[in-house]
Amino acid sequence: MTATTNKLVIIGVGHVGSQVLTTAVAHQIASEIALIDIEEGRAIGEALDADHATPFDYNANINVHKGTYEDCADAKVIIMCAGPSIMPGENLDRLVLAGRNAETVKDVMSQIIKYTKDAVIIFITNPLDITTYYAANHFGYPKGKLFGTGTTLETARLKRIIADRYNVAPTGVQAFMLGEHGNSAFPAWSMVNIGGIPVTQLDQYFGIETPLDKGAIGKQVVQVAYDVLNGKGWTNTGIAMGAVRLAKAVMYDERFVGPVSVTFEGEYGITEKVSLSIPCVIGKNGVEKRLPLNLPEEEVNNLKNCAKTVRAVLDSINI
Ligand code: 2OP
Repeated sequence: MTATTNKLVIIGVGHVGSQVLTTAVAHQIASEIALIDIEEGRAIGEALDADHATPFDYNANINVHKGTYEDCADAKVIIMCAGPSIMPGENLDRLVLAGRNAETVKDVMSQIIKYTKDAVIIFITNPLDITTYYAANHFGYPKGKLFGTGTTLETARLKRIIADRYNVAPTGVQAFMLGEHGNSAFPAWSMVNIGGIPVTQLDQYFGIETPLDKGAIGKQVVQVAYDVLNGKGWTNTGIAMGAVRLAKAVMYDERFVGPVSVTFEGEYGITEKVSLSIPCVIGKNGVEKRLPLNLPEEEVNNLKNCAKTVRAVLDSINI
């Protein structure tokens, strides 16, 4: 096949990476997809399987193949999914993976930078804010070109819950989960609205009598990840859709707005060196602009709590 300019590299094709592949093929975001995995046979098998999805008439003729790190040289987007995921029952906190996956990040980033500093790298590997901070700050990768999916997934979960409560499509809900992709993530309630109707008026507007329990919904968004994990053993469908959404924003230079994990630069008076999610504009260069929202004190304090949580773990592994 001919060389392409919108090439995607997926690193790690376990449960998450293979679902990213399936989603990327179905949404036709790239004309070439290279798969890298420490188990070469797995990459070959996944590439072959995906290849068999491409002849159907609703699909483009995408070139999917097993790759090597050399494929990063002309990649537009690299999605990083390598490293073990949390297991059902494993303390139910992604942060337990920090030490193990920092090693994986070191191996992968050391390879990538041999071939490119142009591709936009999107991190999925957990604990997301730890791996993203390490990768973005220790390998000389250009600022903005490497970011984490962050609270993209929590935001989707929050939108789903709010949409169900008011019986509207989740795309009609404006809402962000901010902070850590993990247990300290929180909804920015001050920003939530449906079609411009602020959260304070939603119950009255939609005729809902049970009062909105913001605390319970915030907890539900965090807990639902573990419900998926305990039910099926891993989570992959939601995160794959989120990562592909962001990758498409880069491929198409969409200037899509969503919360992603970036290294803080003093926003909200947070002095800890950490990566956390705030809404950003995503385009062909990755993070094109950060949108630090004007948050009330309570939400700023929640963000500060996330920063302390993530920094403590970074300190514990000397990053
Ligand atoms: C998720 O939130 C476990 O980070 C993974 O689905």
